[in-house]
Amino acid sequence: MLSESCYRRLDWDFECLVNPRFEAQWARYTPRNPIRPVWDPAKKLWLEIGAGTGSFFRQLAVEISDTTFLAIERDRHRGKTLETRAQKAGLENFIGLRANAVPWVMHHVPDHTLDRIYILYPCPWPKTSERKNRWYLHPFMDVLLRKLRPGGHIVWSSDQQFYIEEAAYTCDKKHALKEIKKGPLSPHPMNYLEKFPSGRTKFEGDFLAQSLPCFELIVEKP
Ligand SMILES: C[S@@+](CC[C@H](N)C(=O)[O-])C[C@H]1O[C@@H](n2cnc3c(N)ncnc32)[C@H](O)[C@@H]1O
Repeated sequence: MLSESCYRRLDWDFECLVNPRFEAQWARYTPRNPIRPVWDPAKKLWLEIGAGTGSFFRQLAVEISDTTFLAIERDRHRGKTLETRAQKAGLENFIGLRANAVPWVMHHVPDHTLDRIYILYPCPWPKTSERKNRWYLHPFMDVLLRKLRPGGHIVWSSDQQFYIEEAAYTCDKKHALKEIKKGPLSPHPMNYLEKFPSGRTKFEGDFLAQSLPCFELIVEKP
């Protein structure tokens, strides 16, 4: 639970942290990777934002063949490693890209095509003055929700409980998404924890190794 003042601030943010020119501004920007990789439209499409070096989606791609796994990482070093490992893996259903997910998804992912979005251990932007960068308060959230199919899911994880609580409140009050799960990280059919006992990602592995608590939120688009 958050404090009353946090909820009040979030309510204020929903009204005031809006940028009506956001999509027009990015529409003028050409993504670094202007050519969209080909994926099979008959398969489900899952997206991971801030995928690091992509180990989570790479392993799932081996095991789940009816789904295309699109992993995007902006950081230069991690993104290059992701691209190299994706090429070496040679899986037709795993695409690893070094890119800024904001313009890339806007330009290359058609509306209502994503079945699932994973946002695992995003930077929590803990300072109040930087909160507009938290994904759930970012104007990109509206784009992401448009790209998601009805019945599609967003799976969030964080070591910061406030982040998950705020994301849950925002998903409910601002976007009318249905909460499927919220709370401490524990096995669920949509998180595949049991396949990754040392952590699905580097950050998760580090937190688990230090016995630090992790939290998650799973929401569904009606
Ligand atoms: C705290 S790290 C977590 C990385 C990974 N998910 C993990 O759990 O190990 C957050 C990642 O999100 C990436 N990121 C932040 N903004 C992004 C964006 N707009 N597009 C793609 N990746 C982004 C950062 O570069 C960083 O690698």
